[in-house]
Amino acid sequence: MEIIHLSAECYPIAKVGGLGDVVGALPKYQNKLGHVAKVVMPAYQTKFMQENEFEVVYDGWSKLGFHNFPVRIFREKTNKLGFDLYLVHISGLMDREKVYGYDDDTERFLAYQISVLDWICQWEHRPDVIHCHDHHTGLVPFMMAYCQQFRNISNVPTVLTIHNAQYQGQFGWDKLHYIPSFDLWKSGQLDWRGAINPLASAIKCSWRVTTVSPSYLDEISFRANGLEDLLAQERGKSVGILNGIDNDVWNPSADAMLEKQFSVKTVEAGKKANKAALCSVFNLDPEKPLYTFIGRLVGEKGADLLPDIFYNALHQANGDINVLVLGSGDPQVEGRLNHLKDVFPGNYNAYIGYNEQLSHQIYAGADFLLMPSRVEPCGLNQMYALRYGTIPIVRRIGGLKDTVIDIGDAGFGICHDQTSVWDVNHAMGRAYELYLDKKKVKEIRKFMMQLDHSWDNAAQQYIDLYQI
Ligand code: ADP
Ligand code: GLC
Repeated sequence: MEIIHLSAECYPIAKVGGLGDVVGALPKYQNKLGHVAKVVMPAYQTKFMQENEFEVVYDGWSKLGFHNFPVRIFREKTNKLGFDLYLVHISGLMDREKVYGYDDDTERFLAYQISVLDWICQWEHRPDVIHCHDHHTGLVPFMMAYCQQFRNISNVPTVLTIHNAQYQGQFGWDKLHYIPSFDLWKSGQLDWRGAINPLASAIKCSWRVTTVSPSYLDEISFRANGLEDLLAQERGKSVGILNGIDNDVWNPSADAMLEKQFSVKTVEAGKKANKAALCSVFNLDPEKPLYTFIGRLVGEKGADLLPDIFYNALHQANGDINVLVLGSGDPQVEGRLNHLKDVFPGNYNAYIGYNEQLSHQIYAGADFLLMPSRVEPCGLNQMYALRYGTIPIVRRIGGLKDTVIDIGDAGFGICHDQTSVWDVNHAMGRAYELYLDKKKVKEIRKFMMQLDHSWDNAAQQYIDLYQI
């Protein structure tokens, strides 16, 4: 089958969170199964663009409202990512350093979506499926189904994967003219509660909908930032497929970013060396348990509670634990997390920012990884932690519920029910007791590292789904 993935992120070209990891891996594993999976994404001004070789495969013009603009599409020449990568260059709109966060994001992602469809319409053949990821590509199923301009490809099946229903990309009806012409009585397919809502439209118009874990699919009929009723109505065409992880990128026995590589057999020595290196950089004591948090500092992740969680834990432990944070997001949370450095020097540290290499080093060197998420459609951090022998402390929600089993249920992680300071502190206390039982920790680490969360299985589930 020929599968076209459309996404705003794809690792290693541009990654803000797990969406990038997924789109950078899934196509590769689909190709390994004998299919032809391609990624078509915006050409941002990133290092990848400057450091690699490309050929131009398309030069054309597209239209956003009354504005005509030139589009150039590049293909990465060497296929080094394990899939064909196409980058859509739109001068002045896409060629910026950041992926999101601009006032004209609506215009940017609409221009990208329209350009991609204009290009695909000119192909001599039709792909077997167009797979859209999140709201940035959410108007594609509508436009393919209803815009006269894309009539050629209206029979190509579309699949939407919801990585996070919190973000929907809604904008006002005053921008309706951006969307190429269609019979206006179809407008209802764009609407959700009085606005044009790309995620809602994709849920309505795509042939199939997936979520990134089965539990998240169950949860969003009750809690999905206003889309609950719609998701409940469309449940019949929806399925939850648990994300995998890219075992080539996340492999502690071959990870060049680590101080020392390690396998199941050498996990104790390997983690010790990585922990020592990390503790020396961050002025922490390698003899004490190391708790960490890695991620976006936003409400969904429970990040607003982290300063209080860590203050309490460090205060009560009286110097017996270490905490290290890697993240960026809400400036207030960033400030409070930075402030704790002065309160608990030698036991607490934080790197506020994005650092891919450091994230690998922390997964390898830490004892425990916290994920007190309020919403977690899948979560990849816990799966990376498992593979690197770090015990996850997670809230029982979404994908966390589907991947982590509590030690009390003969499992390998520590689970709690609420995103509350008390619950997380209690879980950290249980982790501390576990840490003292060295034999048990050793057993758990070996067990976790052998769990199979690779993409092989999920890649096939998507292929089965595409046979619509
Ligand atoms: P989400 O996509 O909601 O942010 P996931 O758990 O699916 O959550 O994926 C997060 C990804 O982003 C992981 O690869 C994680 O290691 C990475 N990540 C998050 N914050 C940072 C950071 N500050 N520095 C480096 N990597 C980060
Ligand atoms: C989203 C979700 C996260 C998921 C990721 C990849 O960003 O917040 O839980 O793991 O997408 O699907």
